Amino acid sequence: MNVLGIESSCDETASAVVRGGREILSSVVQSQIDLHALYGGVVPELACRAHIEAIVPVVDRALAQAGTRLDAIDGIAVTHTPGLVGALLVGVSMAKSLALATGKPLAGVDHIHGHIYAVKLAFPELEYPFVSLVVSGGHTSLYHSRSETEHALLGATTDDAAGEAFDKVAKILDLGFPGGPVIDRLAKGRDPAKVTFARTMLEPDSLDFSFSGVKTSVLYHVRGQDGKKPRTHSPDQVADICAGFQEAVVDVLVEKTLRACARTRSKRIAVGGGVACNGRLREKLTAAAGKIGAKAFFPPGRFCTDNAAMIAGLGYHLLREGKQADLMLDAAPTKRTRA
Ligand code: KG4
Ligand code: ZN
Repeated sequence: MNVLGIESSCDETASAVVRGGREILSSVVQSQIDLHALYGGVVPELACRAHIEAIVPVVDRALAQAGTRLDAIDGIAVTHTPGLVGALLVGVSMAKSLALATGKPLAGVDHIHGHIYAVKLAFPELEYPFVSLVVSGGHTSLYHSRSETEHALLGATTDDAAGEAFDKVAKILDLGFPGGPVIDRLAKGRDPAKVTFARTMLEPDSLDFSFSGVKTSVLYHVRGQDGKKPRTHSPDQVADICAGFQEAVVDVLVEKTLRACARTRSKRIAVGGGVACNGRLREKLTAAAGKIGAKAFFPPGRFCTDNAAMIAGLGYHLLREGKQADLMLDAAPTKRTRA
């Protein structure tokens, strides 16, 4: 069964063809990073417009690279939640039009569940159940994943997402957008104890996250509480701030993930989303998991960031389980509440 996947929830227009939920026949990702870099973050209206321009050529390229045509596609899967409403609508409208025109079944995919499925694409041997940590520009969530389509939410961010904190701190430090990769690079090899920031753990048993505090601490450190401190930091000092900030975020992510493992008695951890590319997170979570006899699964970078292969792959399972959407499928911008 060949499924065509479509993803447009944020700033990547993507399409892919995946066979049997496993074999990636094509995966096209058109990023809008250059468009948003000027503003230091994603501008929703610009994102929607760029999706409208890109969606048809991107789907065409995914079909061509897979060496297939629409009539050889058996199902269409599209991200319909969560994300920017206008951005989601572009993908959802495209998918519904294709489903209507071809008569092929349609599946509405939760983008966060897609990030978890990306880990399965990279590690087909990973067995359910496991703990999933999804850390990206828009989400920071812990789940207990019982199957491709069953994910019980254990905790989520109460304010900024982890990637959002990286992006905002990079903006404070004038490092460009997106912030995660550059902070990761500058922090490499630095002593993270030179400049330290508080770790917000919330209640002792909480699996929720809060990253707005650490972001504000960086702002005060750099600009002063009144925002008037001149920017006089040397490149070395900036790198130390990056290392201290990154360490604070990573420590919270690791601690909460281990709590989730203890609560669900899990020994396997799937990590997805753009922040799963982070070198320090990979290092520290792998080590911490090893200490409790657990294993963390980090996919290669192209499966961490937004793509449509994860949407097509998960769509295959939804369709197989009879979880077909109809043409009333709508974009649902807000995050799902606790399961
Ligand atoms: O999953 P993704 O491509 O898009 C969303 O669904 O949000 O994630 C993008 C996010 C951005 O916030 C970016 O700064 C962050 O992932 N990111 C990183 C790294 N690479 C990307 N954060 C920390 N370290 C990295 N190496
Ligand atoms: Zn994402």
